[in-house]
Amino acid sequence: MSENNGDAVPTNEFDDADTAIDFSIPFVPESLTQLYYTPALARLSAAQRLRYNQLYAAHINEQFMFFEHDIGNAISRALLASGALKQQGLRDRLRGMVDDEERHQGMFESINRRAFPELYAHCRHVFIRPSAIARHLLNACVQRPKSMTFVIWLAFFLEEASAEFSKAVIKFAREGAAIEANFLTVHVRHLRDEVHHVKLYPEIVRAVLSDSSALARKINGALLARLMREFLAPKRSGIAVIDRLVHEFPDLKAIHDDLRRDVRSLAGSPAFYDAFFAAAKLPSLHNMFDEYPEFAWSAAGAAARHR
Ligand SMILES: [Fe+2]
Ligand SMILES: [Fe+2]
Repeated sequence: MSENNGDAVPTNEFDDADTAIDFSIPFVPESLTQLYYTPALARLSAAQRLRYNQLYAAHINEQFMFFEHDIGNAISRALLASGALKQQGLRDRLRGMVDDEERHQGMFESINRRAFPELYAHCRHVFIRPSAIARHLLNACVQRPKSMTFVIWLAFFLEEASAEFSKAVIKFAREGAAIEANFLTVHVRHLRDEVHHVKLYPEIVRAVLSDSSALARKINGALLARLMREFLAPKRSGIAVIDRLVHEFPDLKAIHDDLRRDVRSLAGSPAFYDAFFAAAKLPSLHNMFDEYPEFAWSAAGAAARHR
């Protein structure tokens, strides 16, 4: 997707790094990590904080790869194969998005392997490892986006939230925060395509839901709300980052359980949810809730259900 019609699209700024990775500075802004929203962060030394930040950045890249491969592209390919999209132009743009996501996955995989060869020599995913049953259920749903329309809203959410994440990384760098140049470049390149994907999703939603009955929308809306509650609560992958940190810093073993508990406690934290998933940060998604109120969902509501 090469058209450039959004004011949020990054220019060439920060898109020049292909140098040795600098391990002396953060890979992402600290306020974009989970531990920032917990008392646990203050219990880490400066070296442990920095390493947590770097491992967390790798975990974000893995997340993006998982979203793009196992959710976004799986849905896009199923839609293209199903004949659900009547407009040739929309199908062409969807194919362009699939290509973009393939390129992004290569980019995230490559930087993780460069930065952490000891972790990624033989695999793409170290921290993101859904249980077999979760993977099976997800696969079954993403293959059927015409009837399981809630998965399209999940993908829409992931597109806008991941674009917002990259946008926030770039904003911090513009404001003078020290962010590792190669990781920053990846977010610049990622955002350049994602702003177009965010614009495409409302059209996909309208095209698919035009065939959906009121009852089907209601059922799918309820499934979406349930899924989002589960999906957003920090669990396995955030804990896996903690486990790796403790493995690298054995003196943290004494507070290992506290660190894990603090990450889990974020499931009920309004500050954490607001920082990433507030309605103001996901305007395209929330605008579409005006058209399709059956699918309206809020992060604040999800956090409240966990308290
Ligand atoms: Fe992407
Ligand atoms: Fe995307």
